[in-house]
Amino acid sequence: MTTGPGTPAVEVRDLRVELGGAQILAGVDLTVAVGEWVTVIGPNGAGKSTLLRAVGGLLSAPGAVSLFGTPIQSLRRRDRARVVATVAQSPVVPAGMSVLDYVLLGRTPYIPTLGRESAADLAAVHEVLDRLDLPGFGRRELATLSGGERQRVFLARALAQGATLLLLDEPTSALDIGHQQEVLELVDQLRREHELTVVATMHDLSVAGEYADRMVLLAGGRVAAVGSPQEVLTEDLLARHYRAHVRVVPGTHGPLVVPVRPH
Ligand SMILES: Nc1ncnc2c1ncn2[C@@H]1O[C@H](COP(=O)(O)OP(=O)(O)O)[C@@H](O)[C@H]1O
Ligand SMILES: [Mg+2]
Repeated sequence: MTTGPGTPAVEVRDLRVELGGAQILAGVDLTVAVGEWVTVIGPNGAGKSTLLRAVGGLLSAPGAVSLFGTPIQSLRRRDRARVVATVAQSPVVPAGMSVLDYVLLGRTPYIPTLGRESAADLAAVHEVLDRLDLPGFGRRELATLSGGERQRVFLARALAQGATLLLLDEPTSALDIGHQQEVLELVDQLRREHELTVVATMHDLSVAGEYADRMVLLAGGRVAAVGSPQEVLTEDLLARHYRAHVRVVPGTHGPLVVPVRPH
């Protein structure tokens, strides 16, 4: 990989995506520095998940996406998996699979074809399960977990993958406010300790602003605003693009967005 000083973790140039005959992304540009946390917001259907899928290489967009200086289409699947890990908005839960086996899927890029997981792979899995407050969950069947527990298992799989770029599509939407904070604090701590880069989408705008270095407001498949939480979370922009009546009040870690009734 051709990383040098100043090479961004993510570089998206003029990303256009058409799905089912409709233009979903209409020329999106985005640069994310190594170690940065960027959160993409925008109304339902704005194209947030589509953008994350393209950045993760789950959607073909030749020439539009580079990760750490390498065009994503020239990374082989296994190499890509060591670079970028995605937690999808609603991951498929394989029937009958245990938590341990599910999180072990994150180690696939390190396991030789037709080989078995090593002791190091298992150790990595147990370590993330502990970190995510899931010790003893390994033998449980994934389908029997609560929404919040399952969400933490999805994150565990991504962390076990050991990728330096994490793409989190609404990672906290199934969580109560306590677990939301716990998961986001953990991601932020890991980011600092391991120089991870985080690109997330989130619907809770106050929470989004508290954890993001920068925010991108996506609307109708285009970038409507990009900048610090203070620059993006304004009453004017949110009224215009969400048709929402909100008050924005200053908070310690970023603006707090409070919905208020229109009349
Ligand atoms: N496979 C697909 N075929 C057709 N349209 C799609 C497909 N996937 C997503 N879309 C459409 O693209 C738009 C953006 O979707 P998405 O990226 O999931 O938005 P968001 O995550 O911001 O809510 C939506 O209108 C959605 O219906
Ligand atoms: Mg989405």
